[in-house]
Amino acid sequence: MLTQHVQIILPQHVNASNRLFGGQLMAWIDIVAAVEARRHAHTEVTTAAVDNLQFIHPAYLNDTIRLDAQVTWTGRTSMEVRVDTYVESLSGEERQVNCAFIVFVALDASGKPTTFPAFIPQTEEERKEWSRAEERRAIRMKGFE
Ligand SMILES: CC(C)(COP(=O)(O)OP(=O)(O)OC[C@H]1O[C@@H](n2cnc3c(N)ncnc32)[C@H](O)[C@@H]1OP(=O)(O)O)[C@@H](O)C(=O)NCCC(=O)NCCS
Repeated sequence: MLTQHVQIILPQHVNASNRLFGGQLMAWIDIVAAVEARRHAHTEVTTAAVDNLQFIHPAYLNDTIRLDAQVTWTGRTSMEVRVDTYVESLSGEERQVNCAFIVFVALDASGKPTTFPAFIPQTEEERKEWSRAEERRAIRMKGFE
């Protein structure tokens, strides 16, 4: 499944240099990823971890920005969502400005972690991303040893 968010960068989204404020992009990333996670799990979800938030290129006032969110990996009660962010020019060219990975945990009605159907990777790219996600999970979980 693909969940997208498209936005024109408005004055309230930029800093004094008319560049997109990083915290605003983080909020959009968290929201589009959460919608993708909820659509997959069909439950409420909570953000458990965010990683690899690198700002590769700037985005400016009046740019069109697009965020693409896709589930890459599922565990028992958690899943990873990848969010790629692009700036689209008026001529239609796009430039990637960010790639982020967010882990969500599915919650039941009492706010406890709950299971949901697994994501089954279908394409070669999805299978590769799944195995990269397993490596990312191993690194994340090491942080808690
Ligand atoms: C995320 C949270 C629900 C996990 O609760 P918990 O009691 O640790 O639950 P569990 O130990 O059963 O773990 C549940 C799943 O989350 C995963 N998980 C927990 N913490 C994680 C972390 N920091 N990074 C990645 N995965 C994590 C576990 O591996 C497990 O996955 P699995 O079922 O697919 O194997 C709990 O830590 C929490 O509520 N955190 C605050 C979340 C929040 O408020 N987010 C908003 C941002 S401020």
